Amino acid sequence: MATHNLLLLPGDGIGPEVMAEVKRLIDWMNRHDLGRFEHEEALVGGACYDAHGVAITEDTMEKAKAADAIIFGAVGGPKWDKVPYEARPEAGLLRLRKDLALFANIRPAICYPALAESSSLRREVVDGLDIVILRELTGGVYFGEPKTITDLGNGQKRAVDTQVYDTYEIERIARVAFELARKRRNKVTSMEKRNVMKTGVLWHEVVDEVHRRGFADVTLEHQLADAGGMQLVRWPKQFDVIVTDNLFGDMLSDVAAMLTGSLGMLPSASLGETDAKTRKRRALYEPVHGSAPDIAGKGLANPIAMIASFAMALRYSFDMGKAADLIDQAIAAALAKGLRTADIKSEGATVVGTRAMGEAILAEMERLERA
Ligand code: IPM
Ligand code: MG
Repeated sequence: MATHNLLLLPGDGIGPEVMAEVKRLIDWMNRHDLGRFEHEEALVGGACYDAHGVAITEDTMEKAKAADAIIFGAVGGPKWDKVPYEARPEAGLLRLRKDLALFANIRPAICYPALAESSSLRREVVDGLDIVILRELTGGVYFGEPKTITDLGNGQKRAVDTQVYDTYEIERIARVAFELARKRRNKVTSMEKRNVMKTGVLWHEVVDEVHRRGFADVTLEHQLADAGGMQLVRWPKQFDVIVTDNLFGDMLSDVAAMLTGSLGMLPSASLGETDAKTRKRRALYEPVHGSAPDIAGKGLANPIAMIASFAMALRYSFDMGKAADLIDQAIAAALAKGLRTADIKSEGATVVGTRAMGEAILAEMERLERA
C-alpha cells in the first residue's frame, strides 16, 4: 500500500475544531488498514500572521508543493480586520491556489434526504439534489492586474479590479467540466455575463469551441450568471455541472450550499493539471464554509463539510473511491439517525456538537466496514 503524505492546514476559527475530526478519521483509517497516511500540520491565515507576520510562510509553501494533498480548514476573522491587505488571512489561501495552479474548484451540492427540511426552500425543490459547481479558481478578478486604490487628489479615490481571462484558462476549465459531466448526467451549463463583459463574450465563445471540438456528446447550455442564480433557487434540479468564473463561482456556490440545508455541508476540491509523466496532480481540499468566528471554540461547528472534503481527497487524489463512498454513507447514516449539529437542526432531531458528530460518523464507518 502506498503511503500518502498529507499537509493539514487547520487555519482559524472553527478550522482547528473540524480538522480535529478529520485527524481522528485518518487515525481510524490507518488502524483499519484502509489506507496509509502520514500527516504534518502547519499554520495558515490569521494564526500564521500572529506567529510570523504573514498569512503563510515560505516553509509551508514548500511543504504544500511537496505534499500529495493539502487538507485545509478555514481562514479569517474579525481579529485580523486591521492587518495589512497583503498579510490578511485570505491571502494565505489565495497564494496556495495561485502558486500551486489549482485552477479547477469542484463544489458538489448534494441534498441528503434527511436534510431536505433544513433548506430554506421547499422539500420538493431540493430533495435528492445532486449538482456540481465547477469554479475557475486561479484567474479572473481575484488575481487580475491592476488591482489598486489610487488617490485622485481631489478628495476622491479610485479603486480598480481587473477581470481577465486568457483562452487557455477557459479551455482547461471547460474540459474539466465536460469530463466531469460525462461521469454524471452528461450536461454542462456555462454561466457568464456576455451581455456586459468582454470576458463573458470570450468565455462563451471558448466553451462553445471546446464543446464542438471534443465533447459534442455532452449537452451544453449557456445562462447569464444573474439568470443562472435565479434558476439555481427556482429549480436547481435542472442542472448537472455548472461551470463558471472565479467570482460568479464564489457567489453561486454559497447559494448552492444553502440548497443543501447548510453551508456546513459543502466540501470542495481544488485541482491542478495532471502531470503527464507522474499522473499526479496538485490538490487542496477544503470545506466551502468559512471560519465562523461567532461559534469558534465552542465545539458547535458542523464537521461534515470538512470530513466530506477529506473523502474528496480519497476520490480525486488517491483513487480510493470505495473508502470515499464509505465515508459518504457514514455521513448519510449519522444524519438518518436524527443527529444534527446546530446549523442543521430540525424538529425532533438530536442536537450534537462537533466531537459527537465526528464520533457518530466514525461509529457508522465501523458498522458499515463490518457489514
Ligand atoms: C471561498 C471563500 C474564499 C474566496 C475567501 C475566503 C477568500 O469565500 O473559498 O469561497 O472568496 O474564494
Ligand atoms: Mg466563498
